Amino acid sequence: MIVNDETQLAAIESYFQFMKKRRNVRQYARENVDINLLHQAMRAVAIDPFGGEQPYRFAIVSNNEQKQKIRELAEIEEVKLYQERISDEWREALAPLGTNESKPHLTDAAHLVVAFYDTNERNNFALERASMAVGILMGALHHAGLCTLTYTPSPMAFLRDYLERPKNEMPFIVLPVGYPAADCEVPNITKKPLSEVLVKF
Ligand SMILES: Cc1cc2nc3c(=O)[nH]c(=O)nc-3n(C[C@H](O)[C@H](O)[C@H](O)COP(=O)(O)O)c2cc1C
Repeated sequence: MIVNDETQLAAIESYFQFMKKRRNVRQYARENVDINLLHQAMRAVAIDPFGGEQPYRFAIVSNNEQKQKIRELAEIEEVKLYQERISDEWREALAPLGTNESKPHLTDAAHLVVAFYDTNERNNFALERASMAVGILMGALHHAGLCTLTYTPSPMAFLRDYLERPKNEMPFIVLPVGYPAADCEVPNITKKPLSEVLVKF
């Protein structure tokens, strides 16, 4: 148990150093990840800070055929995005990430976690709660030495239809989960300093 300021500061520092190492990974090793790790990580997610009905669902897709199909469906949308829908501003924002319409992470990562929020619960902060759950899951998986990517194809309803989920379940994020490829690189990007993110009163 934390008993004084010094211990608390050390705990925060250690958490910060740990979370600083988490990066979005787009190149995965074709290496299996024990599905039990995901199941166990999900236990942390199932603790909803609001209590009551949890307005979200997670689907785990692990077999190669379904991952391949999801990749094909996603890349159809990505081609449209990169060739037609993208604005100059958006293209500029994506440039440092080096992304394009090809999404090998969808087939190379051991598992795909598709997160849905329940649109029937629109007045009950469903998307906010589902997003918090995803953040907690990402932290748990990072803690277990696994990598993820917050992947958001747009539009995304094809995932609901392909996975035959009910209409009220809206997918909003796909997390490929796996180990990084041996030659994995992450973009050299800078983040805003804390002073630009935090306003103190
Ligand atoms: C809401 C959200 C959606 C994102 N969607 C995508 C995406 O569709 N494809 C992608 O490659 N990265 C996506 N990213 C990842 C960002 O581009 C990422 O924040 C950036 O690579 C910096 O990552 P890192 O510092 O966490 O490594 C998304 C991130 C967020 C927060």
